[in-house]
Parts: sequence; structure tokens; C-alpha cells
Amino acid sequence: MAEIGQDIEKAKAILESGGLVAVPTETVYGLAGNAFNDEAVTRIFTAKKRPSFDPLIVHTSGLEKVASFTLEIPESARLLADQFWPGPLTILLKKNQDIPDLVTSGLDTVAVRVPAHNLTQKLLQSLDFPIAAPSANPFGYVSPTNAAHVNQQLGAQIEYILDGGDCQIGIESTIISFEEEVPKVLRLGGLSVEDIEDVIGPVEVMIHSSSKPDAPGMLKSHYAPSKTIVLIDEFDKQSLKDFSQIGALMFDQYVDDIPHENQFLMSESGSLEEAAKRLFSGLRILDQQQHIHTIVTSFVPNKGLGRAINDRIKRATAKP
Ligand code: TXA
Ligand code: MG
Repeated sequence: MAEIGQDIEKAKAILESGGLVAVPTETVYGLAGNAFNDEAVTRIFTAKKRPSFDPLIVHTSGLEKVASFTLEIPESARLLADQFWPGPLTILLKKNQDIPDLVTSGLDTVAVRVPAHNLTQKLLQSLDFPIAAPSANPFGYVSPTNAAHVNQQLGAQIEYILDGGDCQIGIESTIISFEEEVPKVLRLGGLSVEDIEDVIGPVEVMIHSSSKPDAPGMLKSHYAPSKTIVLIDEFDKQSLKDFSQIGALMFDQYVDDIPHENQFLMSESGSLEEAAKRLFSGLRILDQQQHIHTIVTSFVPNKGLGRAINDRIKRATAKP
């Protein structure tokens, strides 16, 4: 198990020596290493069992530092950064040679984000390199939204977990690309499409159903717990007499037949923000209950953060 604490100096020292530290952000916890250091980056891929074709997001403390490792920042990207950084938005930019090809899986763009969490902000300000940080979960599993989640799964692979409490947003950042004329959202996330369009006008939203996605990590089956998880509409209730082994992850209302103690409501008050914050911990809680063998779930209203929640539900329930 990793050591857990709030010692920024310690986290800094480990990162400077090429080690890995889990860091809190407002979206999910990240598994961080020095983005300029090939060895540290390799250790991230190994710890997560992440395929090398799936590039990492580079985190830094502010827009002013981004120019040192990228080639250019398009006007619309700058507008979004000014408005939403620090925050749950990742922008793809052309990289320069300081970013190793390992980080970007050989692509000429690098995904960049300035996270909004005071501990990680302080840490990033104190470092003279950016950090590469994917979500701190084994590849394909649910992202961690507190230090205990990280420790349960990756504790043995990491030296230190910087504990910043529960993540305020709870769902990964929105990823946007400016490679084509119309900006393209490659991953729905913690910043809503509506908020983005208010600043830069219409964007295209990538649907992740293709087998060769634009964002290499956007595979259809992802965020999956180890139990079977199915959409309630595709679940054959008729054939069942006993619901004691069925769990349910629901938005704001319990479903009939399934015992309430087997059900997790993401937001009793019907708030999409609260649902985003509790989605991944709900999945984990149900996944860890021994007596539950199948989890049913259903979509939430498809607006604002609901679109990102539905994207995760779609992928968690996709057949591998
Ligand atoms: O909220 C977040 O974004 C969290 C926190 C820790 O910042 N990080 C995160 O990282 O979710 P990860 O590695 O779990 O997801 C990053 C996604 C992957 O789907 C990857 O394929 C995509 O970003 N990505 C990274 N670099 C890319 C690039 N150059 N072009 C296209 N997609 C890229
Ligand atoms: Mg991830």
C-alpha cells in the first residue's frame, strides 16, 4: 500500500527523482510522473497496464507555462483556456520536442490541462516540468475519486498518494481538438458542451461507437466494473424470481423489485452535478458487494453533465 498524506514537498521530491505520485484533481485522481522523463512515463504505462497506443494528458499550473512545450495555441483554444482553466477541460495542442513521443503515443499533438485543486496547483507551481497523469486506475476500470480508491488498486505501484479528499466534479475532463475547422469534442466530461459553445460557438461532438476512435483511449468498452453491468431496458426481468443478487445504479429514483439496500441513487434530488460526483463511487460500491452478481443501470437526462454521465454509462455497459 502507498503512503497517503498531504505533503507537497514529499510529492515534489518523488516526482523530481522520476517516481510516481497519485494527485487529486477536481475531476478524478491522476497517476503522475515527470512528463519530460521517459522512464517516469514508462512507469505510468506499466503501473496502469495501459497500452502504449493510448496517450497521456500533460498537466501544468497555468496557460503561461504551456507555450514552453507546445508550438501554437489557436485563438479559440486560448479563449477556452482563459475562461475555464484551471478546470475540467483538456485541450489538444501541437507539441514541441520537449514532450517525449511516449507521452503522446507518437501523435504530434499533446493533451494539456490545468487542474483546479489547490494541493495539485501548489505542487505544479513548484515543479519545473509538467506532469503526465492519466486517471489513477488500472486500464479499463472505473476512475478513482478519492485516495482510498487509488490505494485499493494501485497502492502497490505508487510511492505516495497526495490526499485531496473527494473530487468535486467526479468525472474526467472534457477533451477538445482544434485540428479541423470546427472544434471537436473527443470526450464528453466535466465541462459541458453548452458551456463551451457559449464561449466559442458550435462544436462537433464525437460519438465513441467506432472501433478506431479519434481519441485513442476512447474505446467503446471502458469504465467497466468487474461485475456484469447492463442497461435496465435490456435486462430480462421476467425470467427472474429472486432479485436479491441484483444491484442497481440509478439517477434519482429506486426501481421496483430490487431491494433498496442493493440500489445506489446518484442524486436523490435529481442534480446532474451531484450524480456526476457520485457515479464512479456508486459503481465501485456495487461492484464490491459480494452478494451482487449483476448491476442494472439507466441513463440520466441527456443535457449538461448528463451527457458525460450517459457516455460513461454507455461504455460501462458496452459488450467488450
Ligand atoms: O480529468 C482528466 O482528464 C483526468 C485527470 C487525472 O486529469 N485524466 C484522464 O486521463 O482522464 P486518461 O489518461 O484516463 O484519459 C486521457 C484521454 C485518453 O482517452 C487518451 O486517449 C486521450 O485523453 N488523449 C490523450 N492525448 C491525446 C491526443 N494527443 N490526441 C487524442 N486523444 C488524446
Ligand atoms: Mg482514464
